[in-house]
Amino acid sequence: MSKDERSPLAGRHVLSVGQFDRELLGTVFGRAREMRRMVESVGGGRALADRVLTCLFYEPSTRTSSSFLAAMQRLGGRVIPINGVQFSSVGKGESLPDTVRTLGQYSDAIVLRHPEEGAVALAAEYSPVPIINAGDGVGEHPTQALLDLFTIQEELGQLDGLTVAMVGDLRYGRTVHSLTKLLLLYDVRLRFVSPDTLRLPMALRNQAEAAGRSIRETHDLSEVVREADVLYATRIQRERFSDTAAYEQVRGQYLVDLLLLRQAKERMVVMHPLPRVDELAPEVDTDPRAAYFRQVRNGMLVRMALLTLVLGQ
Ligand code: NCD
Repeated sequence: MSKDERSPLAGRHVLSVGQFDRELLGTVFGRAREMRRMVESVGGGRALADRVLTCLFYEPSTRTSSSFLAAMQRLGGRVIPINGVQFSSVGKGESLPDTVRTLGQYSDAIVLRHPEEGAVALAAEYSPVPIINAGDGVGEHPTQALLDLFTIQEELGQLDGLTVAMVGDLRYGRTVHSLTKLLLLYDVRLRFVSPDTLRLPMALRNQAEAAGRSIRETHDLSEVVREADVLYATRIQRERFSDTAAYEQVRGQYLVDLLLLRQAKERMVVMHPLPRVDELAPEVDTDPRAAYFRQVRNGMLVRMALLTLVLGQ
């Protein structure tokens, strides 16, 4: 891989999908395809040899943390993984600014997940090295949205002209928030399916309307399944509910199963950021439209691409 002296992301924080336009997304996706070819042919490379990344997670994670770890390792880099922050100085009461100021002395970038919206942006003000947002509460999850969009492009060969239906917890699901914003860069129709209490935040709905996109909100998944090119299912974000009764009321309302998929297009793709709880019936896993494990693989490739763009010379 050539050193990219003009990487528009070199040395920059990645905090929000608002930083990306179609051209930059094209750069990331082109690089992700290079990563795919490299991983499939020789397993990896050395582009990030001698680079060190800290993965600092204040909330649970399997895919995001381990895919960043795998991405670094496949590019010859190393990782300081901090998953149980309660066992670090955070447990002694250290502030987020001090934690990132410290970890920035050891590493070349910090991947940060935090339960509070805005905390990652705050950390970026203090960090001496780039911060990559791996989810800030109900705010954003930009690297997930990059891999989601890349998956749609790779599965369907296009982004413009598609109908994308998002289902489940549209209120607290940060992956939905970031993906919706990115999709507004394209000529897409958006369908939002949720219980009333978990509708997409008003500001995002307004943003979608201002962008002139066709939008429809409904409670009923069967109303939109026929027209969808992408069905993006999400988990009800139990950890964001203050009241378990309110969670119990909305859980399990939407199930993607083979009966539902009978009504869907033959080329529709079923996606999910994972983990799934009860949104996708296991019988769907063997349907060719089930793209969620290919989506996981794409997550590593897109993070490899992003890391080379942020950390590359
Ligand atoms: C998502 C998240 O953390 O927001 N998971 C992920 O990173 N793939 C979705 C979720 O937890 O439901």
